[in-house]
Parts: sequence; C-alpha cells; structure tokens
Amino acid sequence: MKRLILAPFLVLLLALSAPAFAQNAPSPGSSRGTVNAEEMELQRMLQGGRVEGRTTIPDARSEVLIQPQGKAWRDFHNVTLAWVGGIAVGGMLLILIAFYLTRGRIMVEGGLAGRTISRFNMLERVNHWMVASSFIVLGLTGLNLTFGRYVLLPIMGPYAFADVSLWGKIAHNFVAFPFTLGIVVMVLLWVKDNIPNGRDIEWFKMGGGLIGKGHPKAGRFNGGQKMIFWITVLGGGIVAASGYFLIFPFWGEFGVADMQLAHIIQSVLSVLMVAAMIAHIYIGSVGMQGAFDAMGSGEVDLNWAKEHHPLWVEQEMAKARQVVSPTGVKPAE
Ligand code: HEM
Repeated sequence: MKRLILAPFLVLLLALSAPAFAQNAPSPGSSRGTVNAEEMELQRMLQGGRVEGRTTIPDARSEVLIQPQGKAWRDFHNVTLAWVGGIAVGGMLLILIAFYLTRGRIMVEGGLAGRTISRFNMLERVNHWMVASSFIVLGLTGLNLTFGRYVLLPIMGPYAFADVSLWGKIAHNFVAFPFTLGIVVMVLLWVKDNIPNGRDIEWFKMGGGLIGKGHPKAGRFNGGQKMIFWITVLGGGIVAASGYFLIFPFWGEFGVADMQLAHIIQSVLSVLMVAAMIAHIYIGSVGMQGAFDAMGSGEVDLNWAKEHHPLWVEQEMAKARQVVSPTGVKPAE
C-alpha cells in the first residue's frame, strides 16, 4: 500500500530530474563528452565521403549520418550567403543613398492639384499591408536564423538570444501562411494590370523619369512597378514553396540533399527580395512626394497621377464619363 502511494511521487521526481540528467550527459559537439573526439576521428576517416549505418526507423533516409553535400551546404550557409546578402542589401543601400544625394526627393513637378483620384480600394490596401508586414517579420526572423548568432548573441547573451530565436522561428513558420495568402490575392487583384508591354521598355529606356528628365507614359502600373509585382509574386511564391518544403520535410522521395537545395534557393531569393523591397519601400515613402497616399488613404493627388500614370488617369476619366444615371450620362463624383 505504502509503495502504491509513493509510486506517483517517484515518477514525478524522476520526470523532474530528467532535464538535469540530460544537461549532464555529453551533448553532440560538447567539449565535455567524447563525441567531439569521435566526430573528429570520423571526419578523418571520411575524407569527404558518405557515412551510412542502420537504424530501426523504417525510413531508409534516416540511415545517412554524414553526406558530403552537408559540408558544401554549411560553407554556403556560413560564408557565401553572408556575402550574397551583404553585397545585395549593402549595395542597394549605397545606391539609394547616392540617388537621394544626387536626385533628392522626387517632387510633383506641376505642384499638388489639391484634388484626388482613387487609386487602391480597401481590399487592395489591406492585402498589400498584410504582404508587407508579414514579409518584414519573415525577413527579420529569417535573417536571425542565419546571422543572429554573430550579431545578436554577443549583444543579448545566450538566454535572451535563445528566447528570441525560439519565438522568431515559430513566427517565421506561422507568418508564412498570411504571406502566401496575400501573394495569391495580389495575383488575383493585380495581374491583369501587370502584363508587360512595349511601353515598359520605353519606361526603362527613359530611366522611368527618375533618372534624367521627362515622364514616360504609363498605365496603372509602370515598368518599375511591374518589376516589383513580379519579384513579389514569383520570388515570394518560390520562397514560400521552398519554405513549406522545409517546414514539412521529406516529401516523397526527397532527401537531405534536396532540403539543402531548397534552403539555398529560399535564402538566396529572400536576400535578393529584401534588397529589391528596400528600393520599393524608399520610393513608396520618403523617396517620392505623394506616393505613400496610394497605400495610405487610397487617394492620390491628381497631378501626381497625371505625371506618373497618365494613361491610367485617361482610362479612369473615360470610365467616369460612362457612368450612366437615370437622367443620362454624368461624370462620377
Ligand atoms: C513596408 C513598407 C512599404 C511601403 C511604404 C510600401 C508602399 C507602397 C506603395 C505606396 C505602393 C503603391 C504605388 C503605386 O501607387 O502604384 C505599393 C505597391 C506595391 N507594393 Fe509596397 N510598400 C511596402 C512594402 C512592400 C513589401 C514588403 C512588398 C512585397 C513583399 C510590397 C509589394 C508591393 C507591390 C507588389 C505593389 C504593387 C506594384 C507597385 O506599385 O510597385 N510592398 N507599395
């Protein structure tokens, strides 16, 4: 009887002490255990080869202990990616600083009209901000996965960094879903206005009116904006797909090497997208007078619209003239 009463306490005691035992046990890579020495011996034996064993798990892919692509991937993760990211993001920041210093803020040349035209409805704006805010969360938490240990760990110490990284990883996985949804809605809303055409080539030839003088004629979206659209939906789509591949690993016949490839695609595209979005955010906010209103209130100044999207303004005016009232044709309000 006494034993029966004590049994639950004994189980509880064992359960509570398990983490402590685990802390004392040598962990992989720990300098206290023998694992490091064994690992080094294994590395020597390996000389870049592949080590496989036998496991009781039915999935044969779990039997691969070491594979040469892993080393290549680690070099990519620790060295190449930092360079690609540093050059893309740092280079873009330098270009924007140089652009701001030489060109300054792009103003509405004819001055503000004081009258506005509706550019984006509520659905378009809410969806844009959902994509934008989730992209920023994904970007920051993703950068922490790659660079956090070099940048944040020395500043905040191991405990705070562990918390930040844990919650960051959880956020990274879950925020992927609203991001993907936003991309799909963006395609449905905007793809028809983003089909490339000959005018976009003219737009690029004239530097979009940002470099040099003159305003190339553009419809609802100009060449630069179409580029941002396709970077967002194609880049974002591939990044999302490769991300789901990593969240739900080992689909079908795919193995560790495929996961590493998915990670390389995901991380390179992500840092390139971050660089492109820095330029987009600059032009959409401080870089151009009147631009932010399009995604803020949804209403833009008429002169801004005529300078940057004259063909679109003409279309909107024509539509307004076609609005039929019971008394005949009247202009929209
Ligand atoms: C967080 C800061 C951001 C600001 C201030 C901003 C601002 C803007 C503005 C003002 C527009 C409308 C431009 C127009 O009148 O046509 C716009 C459009 C757009 N934004 Fe953003 N945006 C931001 C972030 C993002 C991010 C992170 C993405 C994608 C991941 C994105 C994707 C787009 C796309 C695809 C369009 C339509 C094409 C274009 O106009 O360039 N935006 N944004």
